Amino acid sequence: MSNFRELLPVPGRTDVDLAEAYAYPLAPDRPWVRANMVASADGGAVGPSGRSRDLSSDPDRRVMGVLRGLCDVVVVGAATARQEGYRPVRPREVWAKLREGRPTTPRIAVVSRSLEIDDELLTTAPEEARTIVFTVADSPAERRAFVAEHADLVVVEGVSVSPGHIVNALSERGLYRVLTEGGPHLLAEFVGAGLLDELCLTVSPHLLGSGSPRIVTGSPGTPGAPEHVSTKSTPVRMAHLLEAEGNLFTRYLRE
Ligand SMILES: NC(=O)c1ccc[n+]([C@@H]2O[C@H](COP(=O)([O-])OP(=O)(O)OC[C@H]3O[C@@H](n4cnc5c(N)ncnc54)[C@H](OP(=O)(O)O)[C@@H]3O)[C@@H](O)[C@H]2O)c1
Repeated sequence: MSNFRELLPVPGRTDVDLAEAYAYPLAPDRPWVRANMVASADGGAVGPSGRSRDLSSDPDRRVMGVLRGLCDVVVVGAATARQEGYRPVRPREVWAKLREGRPTTPRIAVVSRSLEIDDELLTTAPEEARTIVFTVADSPAERRAFVAEHADLVVVEGVSVSPGHIVNALSERGLYRVLTEGGPHLLAEFVGAGLLDELCLTVSPHLLGSGSPRIVTGSPGTPGAPEHVSTKSTPVRMAHLLEAEGNLFTRYLRE
């Protein structure tokens, strides 16, 4: 098992404690939204298999495991849940200390209009970590009834579930340590709404070329604006930079 080497803020440190390095702010009084994503060195987010796992590695999976152990809820877009085969999170012994006083696993929250979500993700979660589903009022009614029976269903008026709706509903449930694992469409909505507090980005030593989307895509932006023009730039500060097996692990905080 290779060690993580700290490049910033303390260059050369090798005794990095990942749980400490990625700790959420102490006792947050509102949901803190962190994203964890992986990109190739040339900025691609989806590998040839149609998934992000082509870019992942043992150290990346270790970081992902620690981030899941630290959070209260993992929020994903339904396409990611389908493509990456999301299921309820399995408990891990190494999380015992991280999760003291909390359910043994974080909850999964899925955002979906179609409600095309694997049944197992809805029906096999333990009661203390029920899956949460965010959807809109005109999602398919029959499917909505099934989802409501097995999961914690949040139905939002209008055509879209906004990141604001998500954050408010999580706050009402006392779920303050939020981890979103994407995908790029959902992440674009959080960035566009100004509700992303932190980005943990793994830069993986691969080149994917031009066919792969970035970690944010399809940004809502300003109606009528040309798609290639960003409408705003949000400064972020690098909280740390780690390296393991040629992967860079960045942690950016919104200023
Ligand atoms: N590199 C990485 O770190 C990373 C991370 C995650 C995923 N990925 C990859 O990214 C791809 C999937 O990402 P994606 O960007 O295409 O999709 P996504 O963001 O995961 O999911 C999009 C779907 O989420 C639902 N959704 C999103 N915003 C919504 C809103 N405002 N209201 C209601 N529903 C909403 C819709 O679901 P319905 O279709 O059910 O209506 C929509 O089709 C996969 O290939 C995955 O492997 C990469």
